[in-house]
Amino acid sequence: MDKAERYANIIPMHELDTKEKRLQPFPIYNWLRQATPVRYDESRNCWDVFLYEDVHRILKDPATFSSVRMLSVMETLLTTDPPRHTQLRALVNKAFTPKVVNDLAPHILSITEELLDAVRKSGRMDAVHDLAVPLPVIVIAELLGVPPKDRYLFKEWSDILVKGPDVNTDEAFLNVMAEKTQAMKELNQYFAAIAAERRQAPKEDLITLLLEAEIDGVKLNEEEVLGFCILLLAAGNETTTNLITNALRRLTEDTGLQQQLREQPELVSSFIEEVLRYYPPIQAIGRVVTQDVEVHGTAIKAGEQVVSWVASANRDEAKFQEPDQFIIDRKPNAHLSFGFGTHFCLGAPLARLEGQIVIKHLLEHLDSIEFISGLELDYIQSPFVYGVKQFPVSFKE
Ligand code: HEM
Repeated sequence: MDKAERYANIIPMHELDTKEKRLQPFPIYNWLRQATPVRYDESRNCWDVFLYEDVHRILKDPATFSSVRMLSVMETLLTTDPPRHTQLRALVNKAFTPKVVNDLAPHILSITEELLDAVRKSGRMDAVHDLAVPLPVIVIAELLGVPPKDRYLFKEWSDILVKGPDVNTDEAFLNVMAEKTQAMKELNQYFAAIAAERRQAPKEDLITLLLEAEIDGVKLNEEEVLGFCILLLAAGNETTTNLITNALRRLTEDTGLQQQLREQPELVSSFIEEVLRYYPPIQAIGRVVTQDVEVHGTAIKAGEQVVSWVASANRDEAKFQEPDQFIIDRKPNAHLSFGFGTHFCLGAPLARLEGQIVIKHLLEHLDSIEFISGLELDYIQSPFVYGVKQFPVSFKE
């Protein structure tokens, strides 16, 4: 593996070199959009793209900007291009139709109630540990058909899959890659055992659906089925956890929002969209260029890696009015936090629904939700994921 293949997707951008900047990177993106809208970063061996129109164009054009990544720990939907991608996507689209997702609402609410009941007497919780982590894991585990009690294992595995080294050295890189390889091995073994059980005794779950699914009369092979399971687990959890935590972060940074949403609960869905734009759980999306191309007048060669900074595009003043203002009923709000085009997030309707149900429920049942000061916030150690490790809040009933 040479250097060009190695760094882009795993090493954090060198501008984000302090805790403060990792927690609030947006002024840096504003500056980078002005100073170097498209630039080559030698330390990470990739191109960075910061403007909305360029990010949008890249995501829209999979023929030139491919998802078949050189550095990947698994081959799945996320790392294939059409036409294979189109076939794979059609298989799982069935499991995530708006109807299927909306039917989950009462169940999502009852899990939320249970999680909140477990902490409400104490008047405080760590929003990450007590709520934002377990909720999406329980939902996706049940959809897939794996025991929700294994959720602590899933959390450990998905943390490792999104992790990047905090120092840019070969040793740190290799250590993280070794951890990822080990986590993938364990995940593969875990799902292989469940797949073997379902082959013997099929159930009404996603794993059984994947095992039985056919593309042009051909079943998915074992590796593809396991890849799907791991993708759904990894793509759906860390991201939704951060959506929920980032939403609570906004509500405690500006407590007026709590009041407003209590008075106008119909604004919860646009509030969640604005949280997605303002604090996107995934900050950037990687692609590999298939043919020499120009982006914003800059020549990029076939084979080079491009990182599209969604978190910057979402604050681009050429697209959004007053982009650094949090506007609870912003319309239109064409943020790119779920990507765009071919790879647009499969789980977006589910993530939105979970975010809306949790926030509505908390505001209906709790008063004055406040961040418990004293604990210093710490960011998640990942080049692309945006969120905090813990978020302690107090509340009144
Ligand atoms: C794709 C973000 C929740 C499953 C994506 C992409 C983004 C994204 C940016 C596009 C990646 C690319 O273009 O390369 C998010 C965010 C979420 C979230 C911010 C929560 C707030 C979920 C959930 C699931 C899920 C809950 C599953 C249950 C997927 C899958 C893909 C994907 C399978 C690949 C789609 C494809 O390649 O066709 N997500 N996601 N995501 N997401 Fe999500």
